[in-house]
Amino acid sequence: MSPAGAWSRLRLRQSPHARELLSDTTFTVGHLIQPIFVVEGLDAPEAVDGLGENRRFDLQSALDRVARDVDAGVRHVLLFAVPAARQAAPARFDHLQRTVEAIKARAGDGVHLWTDICLCSWTDDGHCALFDERGGIDLDASLRALAVMATAVAAAGADGISPSDMMDGRTAAIRVALDQAGHHAVPIMSYSTKFASAFYGPFREAADSAPAFGDRRGYQMDPANRREARREATLDAAEGADVLMVKPALPYLDVLADLRRTFDRPLAAYHVSGEWAMLRAAAERGWIDGDRVLMESLVAIRRAGADWIITYGAREAALRLAAVWTE
Ligand code: PBG
Repeated sequence: MSPAGAWSRLRLRQSPHARELLSDTTFTVGHLIQPIFVVEGLDAPEAVDGLGENRRFDLQSALDRVARDVDAGVRHVLLFAVPAARQAAPARFDHLQRTVEAIKARAGDGVHLWTDICLCSWTDDGHCALFDERGGIDLDASLRALAVMATAVAAAGADGISPSDMMDGRTAAIRVALDQAGHHAVPIMSYSTKFASAFYGPFREAADSAPAFGDRRGYQMDPANRREARREATLDAAEGADVLMVKPALPYLDVLADLRRTFDRPLAAYHVSGEWAMLRAAAERGWIDGDRVLMESLVAIRRAGADWIITYGAREAALRLAAVWTE
């Protein structure tokens, strides 16, 4: 017998109704953002190892996929447009612009379209920056290209801009360019706190963005660094990021919780391709219940402090959320 008057760990856990009253973290489909890869020059979708239904889509099948997602309640989309041809110094982003226009033309206000801004799918060498003749990062040229890219997608009708390149000053450069072009109402969700992570494996195949030489440790963060994560977020907040982001998500919940305490800005977390691939791989083998692990992962990311979650499982989570009352 527990002593009279003691708090009971049992009393309030006996019915689903009591448990529902007690849950202090929730999420809805409105908190989830579904990434999508749209690849120029394809006739049909191509599978990506580890990503399941998240394929490399041709434009037509991408439009169908977005429409089906919207029907399932998923209205936030993060677009990665992958061009057919690479350039030494990317200056035109026609495929990206056409894709944004097509998605908005088909889905209109039914879809809230964020666009990833980075050079790695466009450059010859697959890096997120342009280099000078001595092999160092050419920051001015990189920022100019990113600003051109961001302005192009804003003109095409994107609802938000999401720079993932990790160059110094990119958020400010993009903000100035957007404002000068009259897009002051277009927000920036910056990948402010992005780690040089091995969890991006499947994405690099999906977006043709594996670097041809070296790696990204010259510009992305060391996974060991928690204090630096705060400095990173401080920089982007000062440059005008409307939303900050931590990426990857589950291995970095401590960082997310730190940023939640430190900043009053909206915070996003990116549950990345490798996190999704591990979950699906174990679920396909029957080792875990994939849907339940997904829901637990998303609630954990919210509990640590994320407002928004970018996840390859947005569609699955939406279907599961809709089914809750029929269980
Ligand atoms: C491009 C970019 C990457 C991801 C999002 N934008 C890859 C990278 O930085 O190497 C990773 C997303 C994922 O793994 O799901 N810079």
